[in-house]
Amino acid sequence: GRYRVDYVLNHSDLIGQIITIKGWARTVRVQGGGSFAFIEVNDGSSVKGIQVVVNSSFPDFNKLKGTGISVSCKGLVIKSPGKGQSVEIQIEDPEKHSFSIIGDCDQSEYPISKKTHTPEFLREKAHLRSRTNLIGAVSRVRNALAFATHSFFNSRGFLYIQTPIITASDCEGAGELFKLSSEKKEGNSEDFFGKPAFLTCSGQLNVETYCCALSDVYTFGPTFRAENSHTTRHLAEFWMIEPEMAWAGLEENIECSESYLKFCIKYALENCAGDLEFFDKFVEKGLILRLRNVIERPFERISYTDAINIIQKSKKQFKIIPNWGDDLNSEHERYISEEIIKGPVIVCNYPKVLKAFYMKANDDDKTVQAMDILVPKIGEVIGGSAREDRLEQLDKNLEFKNLDKEKYWWYRDLRKFGSVPHAGFGLGFERLIMMVTGVENIRDTIPFPRWPGHAEF
Ligand code: 4AD
Ligand code: MG
Repeated sequence: GRYRVDYVLNHSDLIGQIITIKGWARTVRVQGGGSFAFIEVNDGSSVKGIQVVVNSSFPDFNKLKGTGISVSCKGLVIKSPGKGQSVEIQIEDPEKHSFSIIGDCDQSEYPISKKTHTPEFLREKAHLRSRTNLIGAVSRVRNALAFATHSFFNSRGFLYIQTPIITASDCEGAGELFKLSSEKKEGNSEDFFGKPAFLTCSGQLNVETYCCALSDVYTFGPTFRAENSHTTRHLAEFWMIEPEMAWAGLEENIECSESYLKFCIKYALENCAGDLEFFDKFVEKGLILRLRNVIERPFERISYTDAINIIQKSKKQFKIIPNWGDDLNSEHERYISEEIIKGPVIVCNYPKVLKAFYMKANDDDKTVQAMDILVPKIGEVIGGSAREDRLEQLDKNLEFKNLDKEKYWWYRDLRKFGSVPHAGFGLGFERLIMMVTGVENIRDTIPFPRWPGHAEF
């Protein structure tokens, strides 16, 4: 059998046993005049690797060059005499123990042989950066948050619905879709599907159809936007969690989104302690305290109108001072969440000009039942709304947005046949990971980031 490094580090009851571990060498130090070597072996189970001490009686000892090699180690678990580690593995008895280099690593060519590299450099080596502590820790937290997402919604009785990636519908109506074409010259997607087809920008419209039959549902999948993604918080391909609740309005939406965010943070604090300590130490000092504060307090709520008033009355110098009806740009969002609220804030009831056609109109006919959750440093992590469930009003919205009614025929059908009040939201998964890890660039929260000019790997 093979033990995972993390398990061994946390099980001093293994002391005295002979076990096997396999992984990649992070450091190799030959000592004692060439009689033994210290190898730190990491197998991706934790930030910490395990120290292996191997002596020169094993044939592969002489082939030890350096970092990046893959090794198979069978030896005795002993209490570590060194500081900062509980146990280590001693490989000294050729009768009972073994040491093999499985894959060599040419030191002169290995791009990440140095101990530390900048995130920018590592993005150009996306096929190898998974071997670094930063990306390893992000990957484990990402996995935990995906698991937490499914636990949260399933525990509340939501069904996970897989919505399509290829679609003819523009959910956000923003014209930011990537259009599909076939590699065959003669066959573009129009020939294939009978109409233009695109990569989806949101699973919402599809998941609404299931909501209007199965009640509470959610989708969790990749989404695509051909928008300006030259920022630290936009990707051309990102993952979104989109719950949709039947018989629900703005209030239920707010409750669900706040509980879900807190559940995810709590889950990470409880299940990714080692990784969060790493982020706290090397990425954002005070991270763990910040996360604890987020889960302990109710999120503040303000209306869009209040937010505009606060910005207009502020003495702070903004590049742009917004009028009522203007979008809050990132300097405004940051001011509200970082300086006024000092934490996550739920902004509600935006002007209808700013929001998508599917949002339910308020009685003032100027605002819609929208809610965004803004958090310091990142901005919007969640956007949601009550859905327009009245056909007549929906048609008005489509007209107001200059969208073709016919294209949304099946969406309109949901309002013709047994319409129900319903509401939902979308959480940008990578922005959640930024929030939980403190990682400042969204490109380091997804295994293979896509942004203009970057789709190599
Ligand atoms: O606010 P958005 O555009 O809302 C929707 O797509 C709705 N259909 C969601 C719904 O109600 N079901 O996007 C939702 C979230 C944003 O709050 C943000 O966190 C994230 O998706 N997001 C992005 N994340 C990374 N890169 C981008 N280019 C993003 N655009 C949006
Ligand atoms: Mg939004």
